[in-house]
Amino acid sequence: MSRIEAPRDEDDAAHVAGTAHAAGAATAVPGTLVERLRAALPDGAVLTDPDVTASYAHDMASFCPAGAPAVVVLPRTVEDVQHVMRTATELRVPVVPQGARTGLSGGANATDGCIVLSLTKMDRILEIDPVDRVAVVEPGVVNAALSRAVNEHGLSYPPDPSSWETCTIGGNIGTASGGLCCVKYGVTAEYVLGLDVVLADGRLMSTGRRTAKGVAGYDLTRLFVGSEGSLGIVVRAVLALRPEPPEQLVLAAEFPSAAAACDAVCRIMRTEGREALPRKGGGGRREGGHVPSLLELMDRTTVKAVNDLARMGLPETTEALLLAAFDTADPATDLAAVGALCEAAGATRVVPADDAAESELLLQARRLSLTALEAVKGTTMIDDVCVPRSRLGDMLEGVERIAAKYGLTIGVCAHAGDGNTHPTVCFDATDPDESRRARESFDEIMALGLELGGTITGEHGVGVLKKEWLARELGPVGLEMQRAVKQAFDPLGILNPGKLF
Ligand code: LAC
Ligand code: ZN
Repeated sequence: MSRIEAPRDEDDAAHVAGTAHAAGAATAVPGTLVERLRAALPDGAVLTDPDVTASYAHDMASFCPAGAPAVVVLPRTVEDVQHVMRTATELRVPVVPQGARTGLSGGANATDGCIVLSLTKMDRILEIDPVDRVAVVEPGVVNAALSRAVNEHGLSYPPDPSSWETCTIGGNIGTASGGLCCVKYGVTAEYVLGLDVVLADGRLMSTGRRTAKGVAGYDLTRLFVGSEGSLGIVVRAVLALRPEPPEQLVLAAEFPSAAAACDAVCRIMRTEGREALPRKGGGGRREGGHVPSLLELMDRTTVKAVNDLARMGLPETTEALLLAAFDTADPATDLAAVGALCEAAGATRVVPADDAAESELLLQARRLSLTALEAVKGTTMIDDVCVPRSRLGDMLEGVERIAAKYGLTIGVCAHAGDGNTHPTVCFDATDPDESRRARESFDEIMALGLELGGTITGEHGVGVLKKEWLARELGPVGLEMQRAVKQAFDPLGILNPGKLF
């Protein structure tokens, strides 16, 4: 990535160096940047009170450095964003785009002297088209708000991060978010058809399409999904929708070991227990594996943490709890088949939810996992390693080994059906030795994931937390090409500098 070029005068130098609230600099220096921003932005769009700007410094990741923003800008229109980027280019000031700051890798953390560009006020759903099955939205639309709005039309927008009640679509696109439903419906990338993006120099670019198909040129839409604000500012997105499925029913299965629960996951995903179907032209074939709408795992530590936080009444004597769900026409029959597979894998108890309300409670418990684990020792580092699901058992066994080696509590919740694990290191950040062990164990978990043929991040992104690990995963050639892409879009290096690489 290229460096920010030398500022052109002393005033600008102070911006770039982030001396916005240093004594002496505060009067004259921020004025230059702030005045230029305010010249074409509505009242109230440019925030400079240091207490307020400081509150925009972090996302939700622990252990990630964050600087002091020079200014926070809340644009309402595409033109506002263009003005901010033109100004930033002119003054060589870094820009850190943000959604709801629910990210878990420090990708939205401020750098010293930056413009924080918070897209939360651009929150309009511009269009929902049931024939084209698309929604056109601004980046600040909250995931749950979009979900509910499209439900009104009998449609669904499936990607559902645990933070769906607060996280924004722009943030989801920036980090290529996943969620609980991905085992059946896939991740954010599969739903982003087209984008309008303001480039580093303020030009507006449209990518992609609103058609069901389209292969014109390189897939720049996909390139932006997961680019963590490092290539441009997404100001509008065309999203694919699906017909709303029937309500899902959830089953909870208790296992005496994580290994047994992982065995159940493998049994569910391969062909076991599925009926033979007639083939075209005669003869039978085995139907492929089950298609649960959710297949989640919580280990004993996580279950206990959730109970302690929210008195959910989950079974604490079990080593691993597997939640499986179906949103098919006959979920009870599908759940019965999966329940039998769980028992074959050694489940000690299989409890299907009675109704949708009980199912939703189980999901709420799962979504609370990380908050609950944070309460265990005050601080967490959350891994996001995704392995081929056939290696899930090896992954969890390895995490237990690593926890024992470092003498730490590491709770695991996982999108088990995707092989996407969140080993969560719980530690006391005021204890330097425990903090060091936490970081080492966190790193060792990523090394294990790569060894097992996985990736360091399934859905949370790289941010600042996993920068050195990205280089290890991509290798030198891959990294060089990624840097070349960054250079093409952001030659001055002003877009979310210090993230990813
Ligand atoms: C979850 C978030 C942390 O799975 O990805 O709850
Ligand atoms: Zn997750």
